[in-house]
Amino acid sequence: MNELQNDLFLRALRREPVPRTPVWIMRQAGRYLPEYREVRAIAGDFMSLCRNAELACEVTLQPLRRYQLDAAILFSDILTVPDALGLGLSFAAGEGPRFARPVQNAAAIRKLAVPDVKSDLGYVFEAVRTIRTALAGKVPLIGFAGSPWTVATYMVEGRSSRDFATIKGLAKEDPDALLQLLDVVTETTVQYLNAQIEAGAQAIMVFDTWGSALEPDDYRRFSLANMQTIIDNLALNQGKEPVPVILFTKGAGELLRDMAQTGCNALGVDWTTDLATARRYVQDKVALQGNLDPATLRESPEVIRQGVADTLASYGHGPGHVFNLGHGITPDVDPEHLGVLVDAVHELSPQYHD
Ligand code: CP3
Repeated sequence: MNELQNDLFLRALRREPVPRTPVWIMRQAGRYLPEYREVRAIAGDFMSLCRNAELACEVTLQPLRRYQLDAAILFSDILTVPDALGLGLSFAAGEGPRFARPVQNAAAIRKLAVPDVKSDLGYVFEAVRTIRTALAGKVPLIGFAGSPWTVATYMVEGRSSRDFATIKGLAKEDPDALLQLLDVVTETTVQYLNAQIEAGAQAIMVFDTWGSALEPDDYRRFSLANMQTIIDNLALNQGKEPVPVILFTKGAGELLRDMAQTGCNALGVDWTTDLATARRYVQDKVALQGNLDPATLRESPEVIRQGVADTLASYGHGPGHVFNLGHGITPDVDPEHLGVLVDAVHELSPQYHD
């Protein structure tokens, strides 16, 4: 039951030969789609949408109805984990995430405890099961979590931040407290991702949006080390094929070399490193996912097609490329423009595969 009809994405992550480059888009379910905005209005707010398995399933499937995508991604958020840790998450309209109880010092960190993941985050696993059933093997389902460092930036700052002043202060003044915070998030995330796999997630992606805000040595200590712990503790080998893992540190640049040593299958690459360079960094050790600048989607169909052509050419011949943007699609994009991108990948990529 539920045999996969399209496994191009999973094959590319394993660097097996494929007839064309598979494509999916970060934030493919989102505000640029009018049908998404309709369902979010029915749910009331973003977290209520995440907590409702039927509606989360509906918005997960919406982009697959419009475009020939090769993967679905669970509709949820990286901040479900700190919400389960008791920090009180809310999304005020148009303002981004807010925590009612940020953790900013050693005393607050000592009070944190790994939650009962199966029950406190049970709504996420129910969404995974509902989506798997609805997909009926059409394409694989990606589960995800934030990197402990990226999640911790929101827990300490209490909201989105530009300079990370409070958490960087903690890293310098009381690194042991920060490491303790990261340990709790890491342990929770391992349980969270393993439960997603158990519920049916067929690939795992770890989003480290803010790792590159750190100096390289601090990146290794406060971000990469915890992603390594996650990879080492995931139960990836329960099915016929192991569940592949994608790591994405936005702005990683040369740190892609270190990331390729973690035992992950693939690295997400943003548009500030070209894929030819990234491929040299990782020496075909891992697959690469990316990396068109999301800003390109604001331009004309001709410019979008050229951007796709350039991205495919930059990766070059051979297996191990998953087409994506270098970061999430933005809410101002015309949905027709994403269609131009996806069609261009289908049309232009076969020449890069034998
Ligand atoms: O990719 C997908 O389609 C799956 C869903 C997904 C969401 N968030 C839905 C979402 C995923 C994978 C995420 C990850 C996420 N969330 C990250 C890491 C990836 C990245 O984009 O850097 C981060 C940093 C967050 C935290 C977060 N969630 C912020 C800062 C915001 C507000 C910013 C904004 O765009 O408004 C969110 C809200 C959010 N998560 C939305 C969606 C569709 C918009 C909510 C809405 O409908 O109002």
